[in-house]
Amino acid sequence: MPDSLVINSHKGQYQAHFKNDLLRNVQPFLANEPHFIVDENVARIYGEQLSSIVNHPNTILVQPAEEFKSLDVVSKIIQRLVANKIRRNHTIVAIGGGITQDLACFTASTILRGVDWVFVPTTLLAQADSCIGSKSSINVGDSKNIVGTFYPPKEIWIDTIFLRTLHQDEIRSGIGEILKVHAIESSDEFDRAAKSFELMLTDFDVLEQFIHSALFIKKRFIEIDEFDAGIRNIFNLGHSFGHAIEAATMFAVPHGIAVSMGMHVASSVASARGLLQASHAERMKLVLAKNFSPYAAVQIEIQPMMAALMKDKKNSSSELGLILPIGERAEIQKIMIEPDAQFQQQLADSLSALR
Ligand SMILES: NC(=O)c1ccc[n+]([C@@H]2O[C@H](COP(=O)([O-])OP(=O)(O)OC[C@H]3O[C@@H](n4cnc5c(N)ncnc54)[C@H](O)[C@@H]3O)[C@@H](O)[C@H]2O)c1
Ligand SMILES: [Zn+2]
Repeated sequence: MPDSLVINSHKGQYQAHFKNDLLRNVQPFLANEPHFIVDENVARIYGEQLSSIVNHPNTILVQPAEEFKSLDVVSKIIQRLVANKIRRNHTIVAIGGGITQDLACFTASTILRGVDWVFVPTTLLAQADSCIGSKSSINVGDSKNIVGTFYPPKEIWIDTIFLRTLHQDEIRSGIGEILKVHAIESSDEFDRAAKSFELMLTDFDVLEQFIHSALFIKKRFIEIDEFDAGIRNIFNLGHSFGHAIEAATMFAVPHGIAVSMGMHVASSVASARGLLQASHAERMKLVLAKNFSPYAAVQIEIQPMMAALMKDKKNSSSELGLILPIGERAEIQKIMIEPDAQFQQQLADSLSALR
């Protein structure tokens, strides 16, 4: 079992623990007046093992879809918590993926001006990436993740047993984020993850090691820039292009897989502009292409992609703010680029190279 990680935050230290008997030992979660917020699919799949939680009088099930990551759903959760007589010394326990996390974290940070919360992430994306870093985000109208708070959980309990029932797209999505985090650390770390790509798809012990190293790398950055005002920006590697691909394909491509495509686009645009050696872009593409291969044939139109890129929060009034691998060491940096015809051509070339 990997060591626990201790993360420093503005709310004090919190820990991420690795376990392999969570489903056999849920008793600790039932102590101290818990209020459970549980992904309804997880509640169904693990109904038997988690029966004392699923059937607990203070359990609220949530539907894990973007349209339900809304203020309206938060309001319903709050009304249920109030009806269940939540007090400031109680604890909210969230069990599910990133959507359940965002709903629970936002609720915990605002109800009664803040109650403690604990997180059991059940998707690879949530275990390897979102569970640490303090952020909660809620969608309003068409604006994704437009409101939110910084409010870390008291504790995180990671058990890879949950990953056995995840759809393979969700595994690839999490691997997309794992590759991203390792690329941020160094080209050597990226290569180490790349070498284990096939094993990550099949061997949960190997995957657990990479969940740990991804969190270990992310920990260093969020401790420096918890409020995302500077260096943490580079965690958007693959995300400007990835979000634009999600938008241009009406979300046909799962998030972390779009991030793998986005990382390929980022490295090939950087290489076309002479900012990155072609050998780095080719090296990275080998594993990224394996990860996005089930979606490589999806049609991505350039115009809606450009329109989405132009809306990115990192842009200035006239330039795109892009996170790209740069220089001899493929170091991840923010670069400002004019969205001119040359850039659009480079984008189009990198999209045709996805196939
Ligand atoms: N707060 C943050 O720091 C942060 C960071 C990254 C992403 N996010 C948010 O996270 C969300 C995406 O999270 P996600 O990818 O975990 O998706 P998710 O929570 O939507 O879960 C994906 C699917 O997997 C199912 N599922 C969950 N656990 C399962 C299990 N063990 N077995 C079988 N199925 C299971 C869910 O029911 C759902 O259908 C997005 O809304 C994104 O904005 C938040
Ligand atoms: Zn992401």
